[in-house]
Amino acid sequence: MKVGEERTVGAVRQPSAGLRLEARRSGPLRGDIRVPGDKSMSHRALILGGLAAGETLIEGLLEGEDVLHTAAAVRAFGPDVERLGPGRWRVRGGEWRSPDGPIRCGNAGTAARLLTGAAAGFPLTATFLGDASLSRRPMDRVLGPLCAMGARASGTTLPVTLHGGGLSGIRFVNEPALAQVKSAILLAGLRADGDVEVIEPAPSRDHSERMLRRFGCEIEQEAGRVRLGARRALTGAHVAVPGDPSSAAFPLVAALLCPGSELLLRDLMVNPLRSGLITTLREMGANIALLDERQVGGEPVADLLVRASPLRGAEVPAARAPSMIDEYPILAVAAACAEGTTVMQGLSELRVKESDRLATIVEGLRRCGVIAGTEGDALIVEGCGGPPPGGAAIRTLGDHRIAMSFLILGLAARRPVEIDGASMIATSFPGFAAVMERLGGRIA
Ligand code: S3P
Repeated sequence: MKVGEERTVGAVRQPSAGLRLEARRSGPLRGDIRVPGDKSMSHRALILGGLAAGETLIEGLLEGEDVLHTAAAVRAFGPDVERLGPGRWRVRGGEWRSPDGPIRCGNAGTAARLLTGAAAGFPLTATFLGDASLSRRPMDRVLGPLCAMGARASGTTLPVTLHGGGLSGIRFVNEPALAQVKSAILLAGLRADGDVEVIEPAPSRDHSERMLRRFGCEIEQEAGRVRLGARRALTGAHVAVPGDPSSAAFPLVAALLCPGSELLLRDLMVNPLRSGLITTLREMGANIALLDERQVGGEPVADLLVRASPLRGAEVPAARAPSMIDEYPILAVAAACAEGTTVMQGLSELRVKESDRLATIVEGLRRCGVIAGTEGDALIVEGCGGPPPGGAAIRTLGDHRIAMSFLILGLAARRPVEIDGASMIATSFPGFAAVMERLGGRIA
């Protein structure tokens, strides 16, 4: 497939970035952009809409492949899911039934984990499938608690066949802090008899709790615990999805690294449980201003003004990992350009993401002439104090965030950086290369 060609995913035409892309050292990046809608919220809006009585209208939905898999899955369980226009979707929810065929989750871990939770509440049978990468990722973390609630399931990885219905309550300690596990339990709990409580020694992202409340569910929250209240029936709602901070992370770091850049990122979700990257980059010396902080649809939102900044290495504590878990690949790129060493602690979860990200980050950085390694579950990067050498071909192992991170490194590096695959970027950030080019990034 060539750059600029399109292919069809679900009902939506997706521009494809083609198989290989190369990034070259770029001048100042300038502009004013809105990145696509938040992926976590988009999955949840479709699923809660599918569980709710009446109509849900979603605006700003991320139309990336991961979320389109969730849309198709919710439809396969019976609810009516319709695309009204770009980012505008309507869902009419109700009782879920056994789908006619397997539920295809593609590359989307969030789809697989949250949909099994939601489906487990109903007396149905469904088989969940994933692509090669997702089929290697653990499902036992959600199937364990769902089976403790009374569901039956086969397997610890996809494919998984789930038999739902007749659930009872649970008191579950979510350690380590995994938002997908907490969300699967809460979604299953909507139709369980008895108390449903998740204890969180460390907090994980809370989009499910915030959105469940908007759909009329009673949620009790106090330090370190979330409980479903007695009122668990959902009613359709209007959900406006703000920009995804995990996607914004790529142009944001690019603007910090390319001298003279000034970039405005509009309508970005700045939920504190997703903002660890901003905290860390500021500690590293980044010039990032939050403007017009406001609440949209139950989530904090702001515009971010980012100016190119010299960065210095930092110590990133393990406690911060849940609030920036998807941002370590791009943080490692920022660290590679910083002055001094960056140590990122507590990253064992990176081993079970779309790729073994600890391994793919270290291999990619070393190919680009950067000194990097791991010590236990810590990632250590020796900064180059400016542009890294680059001049490398990167193995992405089909991981969208590895692909985007190394293209950003290529914008800052002395010699070009090529990635071996780019089409999977459309799982989370359709149009990424075009957005970066429009800002002045040399990606082709
Ligand atoms: C997500 C939670 C995180 C994150 C993933 C999306 C979610 O995973 O890495 O991309 O939407 O709940 P874990 O819950 O496994 O940490």
